[in-house]
Amino acid sequence: MNINLLKFVFMYLLITCALNISCIKPDDIRNYLGTRTPYRFKHNKNDTRLNFLSCKERKIWMLVRHGSRLPSAKDIVGAQTYLKDLKYEILMQHRNGRGELNEEQLRRLGGWTCDMQVENQKYLTLEGQDEMILLAERMQKRLPKIIKHEYQNQTFQFRYTPTQRTQQSARYFALGLFDKKIAQDVVFEPAVKVDTTLRFYKHCDRWQKQVKKNPETYKEQMLYGNSREMNDTLEIVSRKLGFDRVLSLDIVALMYRICGFETSQHKHSTSPWCYGFDERSIRRLEYYYDLKHYWLDGYGHELTYRPACMLMKHLVDNMRTQRRNATFLFAHSGTLLKLLTHLQLYKPNSHLRGHSIDEDRTFRVSDIDCFASNIAFILYKCKDGDKLLTLHQEKVVRLPMCDEELCPLDHLIDYYKHTIDNCIYEDICKL
Ligand SMILES: *[C@@H]1O[C@H](CO)[C@@H](O)[C@H](O)[C@H]1NC(C)=O
Ligand SMILES: *[C@@H]1O[C@H](CO)[C@@H](O)[C@H](O)[C@H]1NC(C)=O
Ligand SMILES: *[C@@H]1O[C@H](CO)[C@@H](O)[C@H](O)[C@H]1NC(C)=O
Ligand SMILES: *[C@@H]1O[C@H](CO)[C@@H](O)[C@H](O)[C@H]1NC(C)=O
Ligand SMILES: *[C@@H]1O[C@H](CO)[C@@H](O)[C@H](O)[C@H]1NC(C)=O
Repeated sequence: MNINLLKFVFMYLLITCALNISCIKPDDIRNYLGTRTPYRFKHNKNDTRLNFLSCKERKIWMLVRHGSRLPSAKDIVGAQTYLKDLKYEILMQHRNGRGELNEEQLRRLGGWTCDMQVENQKYLTLEGQDEMILLAERMQKRLPKIIKHEYQNQTFQFRYTPTQRTQQSARYFALGLFDKKIAQDVVFEPAVKVDTTLRFYKHCDRWQKQVKKNPETYKEQMLYGNSREMNDTLEIVSRKLGFDRVLSLDIVALMYRICGFETSQHKHSTSPWCYGFDERSIRRLEYYYDLKHYWLDGYGHELTYRPACMLMKHLVDNMRTQRRNATFLFAHSGTLLKLLTHLQLYKPNSHLRGHSIDEDRTFRVSDIDCFASNIAFILYKCKDGDKLLTLHQEKVVRLPMCDEELCPLDHLIDYYKHTIDNCIYEDICKL
């Protein structure tokens, strides 16, 4: 093959790939995969340098949810058993003239196997690595003065929770910032088992008892699980896949989760377990899980987002006193959601309820808490004082307690003074 042809093929592939990745339409079901939604559909592609008149950037503090990961052991086993059996049943039903999948879908479903191993449960995937590298590169392009290519241990802080997925996320993020050789020398703070900052909820006994293990927390989700809308959805999904019975919510929810995990892992293909869903049914599954997160990790209970003051304290300490210019913290879905809630972002006018779907909600986990979700605060020294800029998913957001996107640091500190001064973990969390 001559060089020009090779070049042409390469360019063609590059362009079609770029198009495939960036042209996810709003009605694409892959937008609605909840906490398993891939970050490549959600991030801000504009990575031009951030510039504010009469302001100089000084510091960044960023909290990042780990990238795309493998399912839990329970879901891997579910895929290997229930879904494997369902696959044969779906293929058989279609041979008997039932179901609505097309030839191509049947071929892909026929070729499906669960290649995930239980030992690797929750490990960061290759796509998760990419998400971190690319996120780091874009952030560096936006803020070259504070996220420098040269590494100094006095300038950068990297910290993660004691899990493979956050540790690897931190490493790949560092790989996105520095040369490979330098990245090897990056100092990561030792992960601590009971981390009351990065995972303030996990060891918060009062929250565990009153919220996490309290059946009331899941009441609205259960209500929606039994609603007419959900029953219709189960029927539609079952019919589409060719069943003459109605699949249970447990099974359809497992399909939805595996659809999410597999789609987030593979850039160029959609999981066959998404085929049962159309836009309407996937939005209902999305809502079912939004209800869970709203009541477990969001605005449902004050006790859920109150201990996020631990992170606010870390942020404010960092902005006021620490010498470090760049802090990167790697944590979990639950950490992000509770901090977003503490900041009063995406707050609905009234609580989300299970009787029917709220289509207009802003609290939408697919958007605000997908894999690799992140929130960053950037300190600017401006002519008229210190200001803080907030980026969520790399997009500028205005905090509700501030009039402007560039929020005066003193104002924010005043606003949270009471919370931060009274942020005594033991008091908030003791039973
Ligand atoms: C892009 O998507 C189309 C259809 O969705 C698919 O046929 C094609 O192979 C994809 N191209 C690449 C380079 O992934
Ligand atoms: C990209 O972001 C920069 C900085 O925020 C902004 O000035 C510019 O208008 C954006 N470009 C596009 C095409 O949105
Ligand atoms: C940080 O770097 C300094 C000088 O480059 C070195 O002396 C020091 O040991 C380093 N600290 C750590 C924790 O690696
Ligand atoms: C932090 O950033 C400021 C402003 O860009 C710079 O002057 C200073 O040297 C940086 N501090 C360190 C420790 O790199
Ligand atoms: C939905 O189906 C479940 C289980 O079959 C049933 O208990 C429930 O009453 C149904 N809900 C409605 C609103 O019909």
